[in-house]
Amino acid sequence: MSALHHRPVPTRALAPGYVVPRLIKGGWQLAGGHGSVDRAHAIADMVAFAEAGITAFDCADIYTGVEELIGEFLRAWRERYGATAPTIRVHTKCVPDRDALPTLTRADVERLVDRSLTRLGVDALDLVQFHWWNFEVPGWIEAAGHLAELARIGKIRQLGVTNFDTPRLRLLLDAGIPIVSHQVQCSLLDRRALGPMAALCAERGVGLLTYGALAGGFFHERWLGVREPIAPLENRSLVKYKLIIDEFGGWAAFQPLLRAMRTIADTHGTTIGAVALRAVLDEPAVTSVIVGARHAGHLPATLSALSLEMSASERATLQALVTAAPGPAGDVYDLERDLTGVHAGIMRYNLNA
Ligand SMILES: NC(=O)c1ccc[n+]([C@@H]2O[C@H](COP(=O)([O-])OP(=O)(O)OC[C@H]3O[C@@H](n4cnc5c(N)ncnc54)[C@H](OP(=O)(O)O)[C@@H]3O)[C@@H](O)[C@H]2O)c1
Repeated sequence: MSALHHRPVPTRALAPGYVVPRLIKGGWQLAGGHGSVDRAHAIADMVAFAEAGITAFDCADIYTGVEELIGEFLRAWRERYGATAPTIRVHTKCVPDRDALPTLTRADVERLVDRSLTRLGVDALDLVQFHWWNFEVPGWIEAAGHLAELARIGKIRQLGVTNFDTPRLRLLLDAGIPIVSHQVQCSLLDRRALGPMAALCAERGVGLLTYGALAGGFFHERWLGVREPIAPLENRSLVKYKLIIDEFGGWAAFQPLLRAMRTIADTHGTTIGAVALRAVLDEPAVTSVIVGARHAGHLPATLSALSLEMSASERATLQALVTAAPGPAGDVYDLERDLTGVHAGIMRYNLNA
């Protein structure tokens, strides 16, 4: 596949003049906890995604080593295609350490942004998605204001957030912070973003960029009809999303969903993963789906989601299974913010140091 010979990936405008592909390559799986990373392979994989039209990349200041890797990729991309290089968008995050929140200053925020600029080797960050670990600690509206100020002076092009709940996102928007996107978990297992959050985002012109559509790899034929896996699981993605399967109703509720997805996949000659991606792409509230990838091996299946057209009855079958599930319940990221819960127990909070 070359940049000139692929079916175009559909796009959506996230903000005036800022267009993103409906599929974005995720970077967390290159940050450790998913097997060793070969830099040359990782960059070749990024080229393969970009050449296939997936020209936006998600990362974070706390994804160890990933901003640098994407910076290397950007240089390789420019060398390969020169002045005709298709535009690449890099969406990073600003995630101040949990322990640093009580004393966070404007200078601290600027240092984090400057570090991302250096690692990526760019003059301005395309999109910075702001995360705040603990809303009990004040200062998050101020910190978002610092980022907005850094946007005004040209260090940031667009400002987004990630993992906010509905009332806090409303407060940020009411404070006049120019938020264009919200990165949230959304999948056939996790519908939390599709209620009041989606309504608020639609009303205020905020695009939803979603993660978790593939449940970290659980939406795959290899998990169909097999026994529930027990710890230790192979990588951090599986650890994270096994907890979401548990909230969904456990392995016993997950298997009928996988079977229904496989039936749909058979009808269309595709894979469970493609059905999982299509189901989220079909949500009207969703701007783009971020697809996690350790390598480019799943790329053909990922692209096949773009041409998949599920019938109304296939969508209704999935909807019925999803509606019958008890959870995950609550607002976006409520479960993950509960420090006494299992979801918070697997997180790493102070990765900037
Ligand atoms: N804001 C946040 O808090 C947050 C949280 C998590 C993730 N993210 C972002 O979202 C990105 C996506 O990660 P995720 O956690 O949401 O994982 P995901 O996309 O649900 O799952 C990714 C895993 O699915 C498998 N896979 C990839 N393509 C596939 C396909 N076409 N069919 C079947 N399986 C496929 C791969 O696992 P195998 O290689 O093992 O098969 C891959 O590592 C991350 O990289 C990160 O950028 C953000």
